[in-house]
Amino acid sequence: MTNPYPINQRRYRSNVHMRELAATVLLNHKQFIQPLFIDESISTDQPIATLEGISSHSSTTVLTQIAADVHAGCNKFLLFPVPKNKAETAFQYDFIIDVIKAIRQQFGNSIWIAADLCLCAYTTHGHCGILHSNHTRVLNDATVQELSRYALLLAEAGADCIAPSDMMDGRIAAIRQCLNNNGFDAVSIMSYSAKFSSHFYGPFRDACRSTPQPQLALQGRSSYQLSCRHPQDALQTAWRDAAEGADMVMVKPALAYLDIIALLKQELQTPLAAYHVSGEYQSLQLLAAQSGTAASLLHIEAWTAIARAGAGIIISYAARHAKKWIDAITY
Ligand code: PBG
Repeated sequence: MTNPYPINQRRYRSNVHMRELAATVLLNHKQFIQPLFIDESISTDQPIATLEGISSHSSTTVLTQIAADVHAGCNKFLLFPVPKNKAETAFQYDFIIDVIKAIRQQFGNSIWIAADLCLCAYTTHGHCGILHSNHTRVLNDATVQELSRYALLLAEAGADCIAPSDMMDGRIAAIRQCLNNNGFDAVSIMSYSAKFSSHFYGPFRDACRSTPQPQLALQGRSSYQLSCRHPQDALQTAWRDAAEGADMVMVKPALAYLDIIALLKQELQTPLAAYHVSGEYQSLQLLAAQSGTAASLLHIEAWTAIARAGAGIIISYAARHAKKWIDAITY
């Protein structure tokens, strides 16, 4: 019987060369950002039990890690400080400021440094902002004011980019204004605009010791992070953040929110980042260990999905392997 269809799809798949020529979603290691945890309480690298293959670093071992990452082809980083002392209002940022200065001094402009901007690792209760004295809610404007002060210190220390992950209203405008007023108009802002209240953040909170205290009146982070049932909120928040001066907007988690990535890609002109978060990373690591499938293949397939949905920037705990893995894979 003759084929009734005019196109034979299998010709596209028939050999490796044809598959290479037909591919339109192409990963490049230059689009990856590597998160780094820097813990004030440790003096040697400390493996994170729930984040397979990832360690927290001390203020000195982080320099060794960055040197190794640069050697492997990864030169963009997102820094997460884990301070020793926690507080309710009077926060001390000296630790991360000194770390950024040391990194900048050693690596100059050969690397790009984004600093996460949030209070969750600093607060005694683990919430992302300053709480009302009765612990029932986060005080938006007091938190924004504190974050602006912190952002300026990070910029002065040498950060290329400030990445606010607190989810308060009005923070992008306030931070942009504060940076510009102090001569840091060249420092960019990557806003965690579409950051959903998610159960995929567990390993990250272990690393940062930032799980919100369960006995508080304010339960979890759903009064400031987005609801997975309200996708329109992501669009409105991203539009607002872009209008307030965000240079890049982010969707997070990534794999569970591919529709949101595709939506923002279509609706916004700003570069779009996606954060393949700790729980998403760890689920692939566990599958790799259990099934014997190479972790590289799982991560590359997930990254390809994220890129296909429309993210040009990918934040991944495996970013440091991207060059080697992408170079080596055959499809
Ligand atoms: C909060 C913050 C979170 C992550 C980065 N910054 C989430 C949270 O604790 O609510 C999660 C990143 C990850 O899971 O990899 N400031």
